[in-house]
Amino acid sequence: MKAKELKIPRIKDGTVIDHITAGNAIKVLHILGISNTSSFVVSVAMNVKSKMGKKDIVKVENRELHPSEVDKIALVAPRATINIIRDYEVAKKHRVKLGDEVVGLVKCSNPTCISNSNEPVKSRFKIIGQDPLRIKCYYCEREPEDISERII
Ligand code: CTP
Ligand code: ZN
Repeated sequence: MKAKELKIPRIKDGTVIDHITAGNAIKVLHILGISNTSSFVVSVAMNVKSKMGKKDIVKVENRELHPSEVDKIALVAPRATINIIRDYEVAKKHRVKLGDEVVGLVKCSNPTCISNSNEPVKSRFKIIGQDPLRIKCYYCEREPEDISERII
């Protein structure tokens, strides 16, 4: 990448979440629990030009992600790549990926669903559409309208 195209500086150690659906960087920050009270060094670029249209980028220094965070990011940014940076090098790169089901990541919008009861039942959704992502509760068949608002 040419220097003049580099929107935010490279980082020494941490995680770069790249190719986030344009506009969804804030949802990714929310999933990572990054807010005005957290002390991580974070850089965000929104609506930057990329090979395929526009994208957002989030860089979090000195932090690697938990697998459940990566799965939640797949819900709001299906094309995101997770780049683990160690000593300025991309040590690992992988694309987020949703399985056939979304388990324990999203709260069902039906208050009487068994996954919202006191039973020890994790929420479970079948994927019924990819782009835009659509999911349906395995237990009560309810389809949440705004998935990103219901991430646990
Ligand atoms: N990056 C960074 N700090 C580093 C190394 C890389 O912030 N020390 C960022 C780059 O700016 C880029 C992402 O991590 O946003 C992935 O880096 P790299 O694999 O070098 O870029 P590309 O080859 O363009 O990645 P891709 O093919 O996944 O688009
Ligand atoms: Zn349900």
